[in-house]
Amino acid sequence: ATKRRTAVDIRGRKGGEPIVSLTAYSAVMARLVEPHVDFLLVGDSLAMVEYGMDSTLAATPDMMIRHGAAVVSATSLPLVVIDLPFGSYEASPEQAFATASAVMAGTGAGAVKLEGGQAMAPTIRFLSDRGIPVMAHVGLTPQAVNALGGFRSQGHDEAARRRILEDGQAVAEAGAFAVVVEGVVEPLADEITAQIGVPTIGIGASVSCDGQILVLEDMLGLTPRVPRFVHTFGALAGAVDEAASAYASAVKERRFPGPGNVYKPRG
Ligand code: KIV
Ligand code: NA
Repeated sequence: ATKRRTAVDIRGRKGGEPIVSLTAYSAVMARLVEPHVDFLLVGDSLAMVEYGMDSTLAATPDMMIRHGAAVVSATSLPLVVIDLPFGSYEASPEQAFATASAVMAGTGAGAVKLEGGQAMAPTIRFLSDRGIPVMAHVGLTPQAVNALGGFRSQGHDEAARRRILEDGQAVAEAGAFAVVVEGVVEPLADEITAQIGVPTIGIGASVSCDGQILVLEDMLGLTPRVPRFVHTFGALAGAVDEAASAYASAVKERRFPGPGNVYKPRG
């Protein structure tokens, strides 16, 4: 049997074959996509995609643990990475360790992800020195949506580009095994990828990143509106609508359940 990928495997892919990743929040979806990915992220985007909230801020450690445990138990090949939600890690390295260790123990996942650059570097160092692999996340950091003034692409002036490059360098030097680079201008993503020694995972970033990630429901064409950086590789909303419509007609016309869908008495 092939063994599950680890953070060390992902770290070793710098400059190599592109790393493929997607989000997953449920057993059913994780099982379907696991043959095609190197890692699955149980993202706090589940607050928006799965719970209908308008930001990721209301995701909780308990939500992350329940969904994370489902994704780990449904899969055997990809590394599973779990987002630390807003408010559960920023106050101190000790707070982050308490949350991250509970998430790792409660799910069996192989790594956590947290948002932030230079300000989070000491926390990333603290966790990685204590046995917790950390994926960092810089650029458009959705937990900071209120401070950023909305979900907006980042790095449009020289000062912002320098700050975000320094964020990427700081988290890599602090021991992050990979860095998500989200929603930044393409040349900045290229520059971060060239300058840091660990893989960059792009989303709304650049084809030159060491890997790519998308929210699964977005790329499957299940979500009503998607950011411009998403390519919809599937059209599942239409397929779901057709199936639900066919079911509704069959019920109304008493064609379902059919003879094969009912139990006949044995005696
Ligand atoms: O929560 C999430 O889905 C993410 C990815 C899009 C990187 O953080
Ligand atoms: Na996230």
